[in-house]
Amino acid sequence: MKITMVGTGYVGLVTGTCLADMGNDVICLDKDEEKLKNLEKGIMPIYERGLRDLAERNIREKRLMFTTDTKKAIQSSDVIFICVGTPPKKDGSVDLNYVFSVAKSIGKYMNNYKIVVDKSTVPVGTAEKVEKIIKEELKKRNKETEFDVVSNPEFLREGAAIKDFQNPDRVVVGTKTKDEKSIKIMERLYRSTTRVGRPIIFTDRKSAELIKYASNAMLAARISFINQLSHLCDKIGADIKEVSKGMGLDSRIGSRFLQAGAGFGGSCFPKDVSGLLMTLKNNKCPSSIFSAIINANEEQKLFVAEKVESLLHGLNGKTIAVWGLSFKPRTDDIRESPSLTIVKMFLEKGAKLRLFDPEAMDNFKKVFPESDNIYYGKKPYDAVENADILIILTEWDEFREPDFGLIKKKMKSPRIFDGRNIYNPEEIKEEGFEYEGVGRR
Ligand code: UDX
Ligand code: UDX
Repeated sequence: MKITMVGTGYVGLVTGTCLADMGNDVICLDKDEEKLKNLEKGIMPIYERGLRDLAERNIREKRLMFTTDTKKAIQSSDVIFICVGTPPKKDGSVDLNYVFSVAKSIGKYMNNYKIVVDKSTVPVGTAEKVEKIIKEELKKRNKETEFDVVSNPEFLREGAAIKDFQNPDRVVVGTKTKDEKSIKIMERLYRSTTRVGRPIIFTDRKSAELIKYASNAMLAARISFINQLSHLCDKIGADIKEVSKGMGLDSRIGSRFLQAGAGFGGSCFPKDVSGLLMTLKNNKCPSSIFSAIINANEEQKLFVAEKVESLLHGLNGKTIAVWGLSFKPRTDDIRESPSLTIVKMFLEKGAKLRLFDPEAMDNFKKVFPESDNIYYGKKPYDAVENADILIILTEWDEFREPDFGLIKKKMKSPRIFDGRNIYNPEEIKEEGFEYEGVGRR
């Protein structure tokens, strides 16, 4: 099939590359010329396991191409995926300007029947607005070209995006009517996925749009639930890992997304829960649960910073080693990462920071450049040099079995705050460290 991806961010690039790898001809349109030039040379704008190899193979086979030529990209394909950014506005609602400007271009250049696919996370009702904008552009050209706008939200997790695309829990497609042409084509487009028994559900567009927000909000709610419970565990001496294990064995609850820690981050959860909250408020619906998810997450970051402050009896002049800056492991993405808020708090209280992350330091340096108070280690052990405490903020695998003897030798005082509960408290104490986790006994 001939497919165009508009926007080569996380979603556009991973989806486009995977669709090309299924044999489709995929052209990626983006306004960022620099990014496209690099992509043509096989230089990826993001760190995502397996992406570079998969992209290189499909670029070589001329199944994956890049262009800034909007007309060519729109006219050369049957299916056009909109994957541009939908950043949050100050009030938490979603900025759809990029999506609408792409819709305008599609209406301006459409030359025959097209399926326009909303892939970016967009508030309920956006597919209708995209359709209206395209119709208006066609009217200006006195054209009545047939087209369908469908909603097809993505559920990719950063760090596992290719696996999630190739083995999704489900594919969701929202269409305007039950018998439109697009249903057959979307079925064919995802045939490789459904062939391995993955369900594809066809529904209406508004329900499809809401499935995405509701899914992210539900996952974020589980995290805020267990994080808030971790405070009680701290107070009464229970162990949050035992609690989430016991809860998770209930098949109605399940164990995933019940890991207490320093809070959730990323380009999706914070933005999507706020977006849904605004949609509820705009429709004059009760929304207390959704504001609680966000508030609990902000409180969790504060909780972590204050725990470290009390462990050190004040932060001023103290040296804090931080392992993990990305919002989660296996990505260089720091968008809405809890580490941004926590590091800022430490700096404001006069602490010195010694930071390390396997992939995200370049991105983090754009926010916190190296300075007298901020040092970036080349290796994890550089960061702990002369530190009063080591705190874990991202559970990268390489932090799980370090040389504790070496860490102890290098630190000023052997003290660990485990913001992701990756260590066994007894073992760490046996190694001679003072240990604190999030709701651990
Ligand atoms: C996007 C959406 O922002 C998000 O809502 C959804 O959940 C996932 O898809 P992401 O892929 O991470 O997220 O987006 P981003 O990294 O912002 O990339 C968007 C790309 O679109 C950028 O490369 C940008 O240059 C490009 N773009 C943006 C265009 O080509 N044209 C535009 O008009 C706007
Ligand atoms: C999420 C959704 O999982 C994905 O389906 C959607 O398409 C995009 O948003 P992603 O943002 O990549 O994916 O990250 P995810 O793995 O969901 O983690 C989100 C945040 O929650 C991270 O900061 C992570 O550290 C945190 N988290 C996750 C917890 O604190 N505890 C958990 O148990 C799970």
